[in-house]
Amino acid sequence: MSTMTVAAPSQLHLARRMSRLGTETAFEVLVRARALEKQGKKIVHLEIGEPDFDTPRNIVDAGVDALQMGYTHYGPSAGLPDLREAIAEDVSKSRGVHFTADEVVVVPGGKPIIFYTMLALAEAGDEVIYPNPGFPIYESMINFVGAKAVPIPLREERDFRLDVNELASLINDRTKVIILNSPQNPTGGVLTKSDIFDIADAIGDREIMVLSDEIYGRLLFEGEQFSISAIEGMKDRTIILDGFSKTYAMTGWRMGYGVMRPDLAAHISRLMTNSNSCTATFTQKAGIEAIRGDQSATEHMRLEFEKRRNVFVNGINQIKGFSCRLPKGAFYTFPNITQTGWPSKKLADALLDEAGVAGLSGTAFGSFGEGYLRFSVANSVENLENALDRIEQWTKKNL
Ligand SMILES: Cc1ncc(COP(=O)(O)O)c(C=O)c1O
Repeated sequence: MSTMTVAAPSQLHLARRMSRLGTETAFEVLVRARALEKQGKKIVHLEIGEPDFDTPRNIVDAGVDALQMGYTHYGPSAGLPDLREAIAEDVSKSRGVHFTADEVVVVPGGKPIIFYTMLALAEAGDEVIYPNPGFPIYESMINFVGAKAVPIPLREERDFRLDVNELASLINDRTKVIILNSPQNPTGGVLTKSDIFDIADAIGDREIMVLSDEIYGRLLFEGEQFSISAIEGMKDRTIILDGFSKTYAMTGWRMGYGVMRPDLAAHISRLMTNSNSCTATFTQKAGIEAIRGDQSATEHMRLEFEKRRNVFVNGINQIKGFSCRLPKGAFYTFPNITQTGWPSKKLADALLDEAGVAGLSGTAFGSFGEGYLRFSVANSVENLENALDRIEQWTKKNL
């Protein structure tokens, strides 16, 4: 008779920095929601921030053609020259500042620009100011590289636009980077042109870099899109983050870009060489079609999101304990839930488990998100109405 010995699992010794890395809760909630669906429950998905539309046909065709034509090999780390050229032209037009192809780095999604900017610019002893509530990857990456994460609170009474006086009070000699995001995730807040001029004034002639996350720039319902890079003296100190995920419903293709001074672009390209080698080349060919081709699908999506935003905000404002401002951009709503008397995380969990509505706790976006939930409106009007109905029924039973 043979005896089998089962080896005890060996200890996993992670590098210390891994304890400082955060996450994006949306993906975890999606996994929980899918597990509930497996048990036979019906869930309305309002947790993930991606357009529910498919990538426009002309872009898909360009990607397929590129595959057929053999765009299946490595390309340059900074991106295909044609795409960098197209992006430079497009960004010059939309921002009103002249950019050239050597100022563009194409990466797999908007996220890597956050990752690489922090790796390239911030380290222990530096401070990085970031919006809170805000996209959770900012805080995660600042901590990961060992810099100090300094939150600038976004408050509802200011329509979730940062208070420039408060920002000025947070800037000091250690401030290395300031992160701006407008239109904003998760609040839908939009900075005004005059806010952005005031921010540039607050920075003055300090050698601070601004990471301007403009990924929702084309999803604007009110106000105007204005980039800090257009202010005299700021172009060299701005890294524009933008991409294809939200504008062209291309989240799964993984393609975004940063626009920055050429000397920094060379370093960000080096980070690409060391991590991804390059963005998929057939994806980049599709990107050229996205930028240069018909833009009507983008405008159609914007109008749809606006309609859905109106439906959801009107509906949620009629539910006991919820109140919600009209977001001016992006496809998120950020209702205040303090009148329910429930903490955000507990309420988000209960709505998922008991009402079958997947949303996110405001605290998934930082400590200043307590008192709020985030619901994405990138879903059909029918599903949004269904979610409102379920939330209302739940509140009638539980509040
Ligand atoms: C504010 C913000 N920046 C960047 C990204 C990253 O987008 P991508 O999927 O292109 O990496 C997101 C995605 O949700 C976002 O909300």
